Amino acid sequence: MMPPVSSRWVEDRSRSKSTAADLTFNAIKMAMKVQDQQVEQNGVQEEEENFGPQLIAKLQSCGISATDIKKLEDAGYYTVEAVAFAPKKHLLTVKGISEAKADKLATEAQKLVPMGFTTATEFHLKRSEIIQITTGSKELDKLLQGGIETGSITEIFGEFRTGKTQLCHSMAVTCQLPIDVGGGEGKCLYIDTEGTFRPERLLAVSERYGLSGSNVLDNVAYARAYNSDHQLQLLIQAAAMMVESRYALVIVDSATALYRTDYSGRGELSARQMHLARFLRTLLRLADEFGVAVVITNQVVAQVDGAAMFSADPKKPIGGNIIAHASTTRLYLRKGRGETRICKIYDSPCLPESEAMFAINADGIGDTKD
Ligand SMILES: Nc1ncnc2c1ncn2[C@@H]1O[C@H](COP(=O)(O)OP(=O)(O)OP(=O)(O)O)[C@@H](O)[C@H]1O
Ligand SMILES: [Mg+2]
Repeated sequence: MMPPVSSRWVEDRSRSKSTAADLTFNAIKMAMKVQDQQVEQNGVQEEEENFGPQLIAKLQSCGISATDIKKLEDAGYYTVEAVAFAPKKHLLTVKGISEAKADKLATEAQKLVPMGFTTATEFHLKRSEIIQITTGSKELDKLLQGGIETGSITEIFGEFRTGKTQLCHSMAVTCQLPIDVGGGEGKCLYIDTEGTFRPERLLAVSERYGLSGSNVLDNVAYARAYNSDHQLQLLIQAAAMMVESRYALVIVDSATALYRTDYSGRGELSARQMHLARFLRTLLRLADEFGVAVVITNQVVAQVDGAAMFSADPKKPIGGNIIAHASTTRLYLRKGRGETRICKIYDSPCLPESEAMFAINADGIGDTKD
């Protein structure tokens, strides 16, 4: 049965009738639309400002062509931050980017990414966004004041069998834990240069934390790097993956091994260091742009210079100043008794030089039993 005409009419009228409140609402909506347009024209979108990296496509609204954006993406620039932080000479190495285009790109990107002075208060607030990811050992976490920090590179170096790879395996799992229990609530990207990655070890650690083993493995993107060029190339792919989903940790185990095999002798030293520097710069960029924690491992070599005479432990990490400058926190592992290991803070901007003992257990990095 059709509803009575009168009631329909009432219904329709009530729909079309604008009340005072409606008018105000529409006015606000109009005003907001104008504001949005202005915001878009200025290339600033307030809402997104505080939420992680900005996709490079955003530069299109500032007059950068889609073709140029594609060229940048092909060269590994996926975010506005990547462009803003890059020195001009790097932008110029991108095929099809002229001097004038590089200038425009830098100008527009820097409008979107705050890069000037800020107060220490604001910086302090920004640092509070940094998370610490647990290592699995309470003692080690205490030494690190919480765990491995996001947003910078932590280098773990030491002799063979000191637990570098085991620590990497544990953290590939703990980075997936919720933040309130010491995790990073993100995936892990694992670059293995020595062929020592073992998913079984991740399963053992997952069990300890009550996580589903298959989910944990699904959340680890694994790649074996075969030479130092390939190792660098993988980072470009990594940037593309980080745009797609949330990663908390990038692991490179080991960062230097392939450089030792690819370059030999004094004659190739400077070429090696230059390539290594580029690799580390790219890693730092990932830490900066995506706020991920980066863990790299490194071996030690016997010191051959005069310094060895004055040092109690005449071993030093490979890579010299290049690695030293890129890593914010440097941890030195050495063997203790049995399954125990000792970690020493070798260099950190805010941790005192001290040591902690941990253990390599069947279910990953943990504490000594006694
Ligand atoms: N399933 C396990 N349970 C307990 N301990 C283990 C297990 N697997 C390996 N380990 C211990 O881990 C140690 C090896 O550590 P790891 O492989 O992390 O060394 P590394 O520092 O990476 O050495 P390298 O420089 O050779 O890469 C060995 O001493 C071994 O006893
Ligand atoms: Mg190893």
